[in-house]
Amino acid sequence: MQIRAALLPELAASTASSVCIVIDALRATTVAAAVFQSGCPALYAAPSHDLARRFARARGYLLCGESGGKKVPDFDYGNSPVEFSTINLTGKPVVLSTTNGTRAIAAVNAAPHVLLGAAVNRMTAARLAWELAVEGGYDIEIVCSGTNGHFTLEDATVAGLFVEAIGGFAGPWTIPDIADSAVACRRLWQKEPNMLRGWMEGAHAHTLANLGFGEDVAFCAQIDTISHVPVLTTEATASEARPSCPAILVTEELIATA
Ligand code: MLT
Repeated sequence: MQIRAALLPELAASTASSVCIVIDALRATTVAAAVFQSGCPALYAAPSHDLARRFARARGYLLCGESGGKKVPDFDYGNSPVEFSTINLTGKPVVLSTTNGTRAIAAVNAAPHVLLGAAVNRMTAARLAWELAVEGGYDIEIVCSGTNGHFTLEDATVAGLFVEAIGGFAGPWTIPDIADSAVACRRLWQKEPNMLRGWMEGAHAHTLANLGFGEDVAFCAQIDTISHVPVLTTEATASEARPSCPAILVTEELIATA
């Protein structure tokens, strides 16, 4: 088994034979974990605001997401994990459309398994990725969403956190091959294990703090506080045993049947 880190979604390699862990630490994949913590029965990830809008309004689901970090004016909620952690989402499916995170999910959706990972659900997501990879004979590709097509510090450091955790599940005969990209991410995290401090040197954390979302940055920088792991699935298979946290990609086909 090889563990790799793609610093941007377009750098993801061999996804057809990999368990992909998509990371958008600030904030989409943290939000994905947080909505399940608040009782949400299903998360729909939309690669564009327009698809999200049409799908959510046709079904009466909550329409959520951001543009430039801010709530889209006609959406019900933005992309704040702190806000979602205070809302009771029991019985309320969420449709989420964000600038980078939900597009990264769409970019690797053909992989045999796609998990949504963040610092907050690191250990449970890492364990599930390891189990699925061992079971299916797959590699693990950690896919950083980046910010507007650029490398982003927080995704790479969380990727490093995952590399460290996944390596810890191996026995002496199952030590995985760690690609240079994954070693680099692990070293980046080891250099500044205080997530929040490290992230505040980066552009996206600054932008969010300047927009008044500093508490979100702190929320997202917590490690292993949420045990829910959103798993990309289809509507048809969402109720099958594995995905207790179904994340479903919104497509034109889904809208046509809504
Ligand atoms: C994104 O997907 O680009 C992010 O989640 C942006 C944000 O911080 O809301």
